[in-house]
Amino acid sequence: MPVIGLRDIRIVAAMSRVVVRPAEVADEKFLWEMLFEASYSHEQGRVSPDELRGVPSLAHYVQGWGAPGDLGMIAVEGDSPRGAAWLRLFTGDNAAYGHVDDDTPELAIGVVPGMRGAGLGMVLMHNLLESARSRYPAVSLSVRQENPARRLYERLGFVEVPALSHTNPAGSTSVTMVLRFG
Ligand SMILES: CC(C)(COP(=O)(O)OP(=O)(O)OC[C@H]1O[C@@H](n2cnc3c(N)ncnc32)[C@H](O)[C@@H]1OP(=O)(O)O)[C@@H](O)C(=O)NCCC(=O)NCCS
Repeated sequence: MPVIGLRDIRIVAAMSRVVVRPAEVADEKFLWEMLFEASYSHEQGRVSPDELRGVPSLAHYVQGWGAPGDLGMIAVEGDSPRGAAWLRLFTGDNAAYGHVDDDTPELAIGVVPGMRGAGLGMVLMHNLLESARSRYPAVSLSVRQENPARRLYERLGFVEVPALSHTNPAGSTSVTMVLRFG
């Protein structure tokens, strides 16, 4: 008989209360909060998501959410959003950190601190990628080399693009990963 661990119990408990739905224009405020988490902005001394609006290299992940081509998923517990995964197409001189080519949107993801490690990230990714596969040839992302989230991306089929590694604003290395559909 399989052994059920504490993490499994947390996952079942969290999942039984959480619903995943598509992101709407009205979710922009929450996306700023999740961008704050995803970009580890507190490490650069920023104290609130609002400060990201003045950082062009980050703001363009969320600014004007709901543009054509934007696609996102929100994990909601009751009325409270708990996590978000979203993607957006960046082209030309608006390229973001994980830019691969002008046909490949870049994905960002964040889960509220108290809910991490309970499976929300995986469920958000599954839902978003299922929606994305009929619209885009691939999806890319940028992740710090040491971020445990890399394991999540690898399990979903993302592979590193070694030539696109770069030094991030915190001074460590970020890698670009891509998932090609089909
Ligand atoms: C990364 C993140 C979105 C994953 O969501 P989650 O709900 O915690 O993920 P899951 O419970 O589905 O776990 C899947 C994987 O997420 C990663 N993960 C789990 N807890 C994590 C944490 N506290 N911080 C970072 N990654 C974590 C692990 O790789 C885990 O895989 P493992 O079981 O092999 O260790 C979430 O942890 C988070 O918001 N972290 C901080 C922001 C961030 O790093 N965003 C991604 C930037 S590229």
